[in-house]
Amino acid sequence: MRSNGCGDLRKQQIDEQVQLCGWVDRRRDHGGVIFIDLRDRSGTVQITVDPDLGADAFAVAEHLRSETVLQVKGKVRARPDESLNERLATGAVEVLASSITVLNGVKGNLPFPISIHDEENTREELRLRHRYLDLRRKRMNDNLRLRAQTIQTARRFLEDEGFIEVETPVLTRSTPEGARDYILPSRVCGGEWFALPQSPQLFKQLLMVGGIEKYYQVARCFRDEDLRADRQPEFTQLDMEMSFMDQEQILDLNERLICTIWKTAKGVDLPRPFPRMTWHDAMERYGTDRPDTRYGMELTNVSDIVKEMGFKVFSGAVKAGGSVKCIAVPGGNDAVSNVRIKPGGDVFSEAQQAGAGGLAFIRVRDGGEIDTIGAIKDNLSEEQTRELLGRTGAEPGTLLLFGAGDTATVNKALDRVRQYLARELGMVKADQENDQWNFLWVVDFPMFEFNSDENRYEALHHPFCAPNIADLGTDEALWADTLPKARAQAYDLVLNGLELGGGSLRIHDSSLQRQVLQTVGLPLEEAEEQFGFLIEALDMGAPPHGGLAFGLDRMVMLLAGEESIRDTIAFPKTQQARCLMTAAPAKVADQQLADLHVASTWVAPNADDDA
Ligand code: AMO
Repeated sequence: MRSNGCGDLRKQQIDEQVQLCGWVDRRRDHGGVIFIDLRDRSGTVQITVDPDLGADAFAVAEHLRSETVLQVKGKVRARPDESLNERLATGAVEVLASSITVLNGVKGNLPFPISIHDEENTREELRLRHRYLDLRRKRMNDNLRLRAQTIQTARRFLEDEGFIEVETPVLTRSTPEGARDYILPSRVCGGEWFALPQSPQLFKQLLMVGGIEKYYQVARCFRDEDLRADRQPEFTQLDMEMSFMDQEQILDLNERLICTIWKTAKGVDLPRPFPRMTWHDAMERYGTDRPDTRYGMELTNVSDIVKEMGFKVFSGAVKAGGSVKCIAVPGGNDAVSNVRIKPGGDVFSEAQQAGAGGLAFIRVRDGGEIDTIGAIKDNLSEEQTRELLGRTGAEPGTLLLFGAGDTATVNKALDRVRQYLARELGMVKADQENDQWNFLWVVDFPMFEFNSDENRYEALHHPFCAPNIADLGTDEALWADTLPKARAQAYDLVLNGLELGGGSLRIHDSSLQRQVLQTVGLPLEEAEEQFGFLIEALDMGAPPHGGLAFGLDRMVMLLAGEESIRDTIAFPKTQQARCLMTAAPAKVADQQLADLHVASTWVAPNADDDA
């Protein structure tokens, strides 16, 4: 049907007869001559329709609407000097049409414009409802191609390293990655359920027991969790697992993989090795396990300076076992007014949404004097002031923002305020213009986190991570005491404040595996019931192994400079986990439910009102 791509035509093709297919990007009638921008995947080219040189083509062109699908035959010619378009790759040429065939028309109104010339201001809901049209837009088309290129680069790299791709089941049992499962009733095994995998974690470990040694998969994962810009209920991992490699080797291999992907997609040479930070330092200095290191404003712990202070909000927090931490906002005196920090203000509201009651503040004036309101000032001695300014390194003009309370809340609130102000004050560029790639390995995660609501330990990653032997000790009798406080041999790769991937070395010893499952509150019987197959396999010559999984959608989002992973997935779900195009999820026939031995207990929220 076609000899060339629209976007591929250059001066070299002048005088050639070509045949093109594509969509009408726009049509302009210049009193007698009609110009059509014809668009296909490769780009756009100008088609010129002159009634004197192609009467039939002109008759068709007179009535063309945007997005009509055409086949155009004609001759490539140089554009006259005055109409050269340097912004267009094909801007030096045009195609003089001898015939135009309409392959398909557009009936009814287009819900939104597709043309590269149109501003992007279509509501996302409308884009998702007509996703096939949205994908035709250059931005989305480019994103999908970038995604394919990223997968291709990763595949080549891993296969050159000796990895083989193995598919693991989608109909499986629950794997504990911390989210809710999507479950499916079994028709043939009545009353029993499959779970969709939250990740291929257990299967990839069993592949190691199976002697595969180097596994990878572009794996679809399913998690029923609260959705955000960087989370989808169904997403893709670039998943891998390897035997007989230690943590250093795994990190080295993954750095090389990331460098290859970034070189191919962005043409940049990332410096190696990537920096590393322990989980403990990340929490202390940034209040989060995925710090954005593109800017400063680190958290400073001042608990010791203020613990005896008359200002009860501070001293009380420290005495109750919590912390007082602060961030120093350079230039914050001018940029952030009191109104913004006090109740009702935007900065206050960021802290509040992270669970904090509010933010105390001090302004450092010219000459190093401090200025604040109410109780802090009256209770701060000269020496304390000096210490505070010294530790935070606050220069004149700086605003110090304080969080006080239980340490987790203080960290959460200051992390959130720090990120908010960095964006607000222009310390980071908009994602589209970003060329700063701050990769960071966060290492030495704790094995567990105490859940005080449920009064039990939870695995920070998942309960298959190997503990650090230095913390655990070799005496099995002591594990019950040493294990809960041990660090895991686990690592996350963070990029510009976003968790790109994570992994760990795994437990390959069955008694240690049992002990870890017990530590997270699984009684032995239940552990055997749920994970007996894994524990049994560990006893049959399981090699030492470990691995990692990247969030592929997130990786492409960052490479593409997008702010949501929805823009990197062909057919994503909304925040309510719906597909607006197919209207899924949807009701099914009663008979289907009966066949599956399932009855719905769902009651519409307003049913009571109607009754
Ligand atoms: P983890 O749970 O950290 O580890 O997941 C790995 C990476 O997957 C991405 N990710 C998501 N992306 C989009 N939507 C989601 N809902 C979502 N959840 C996670 C993140 C994350 O870093 N089995 C382990 C890996 C291992 O230990 O080898 C695992 O799944 O980028």
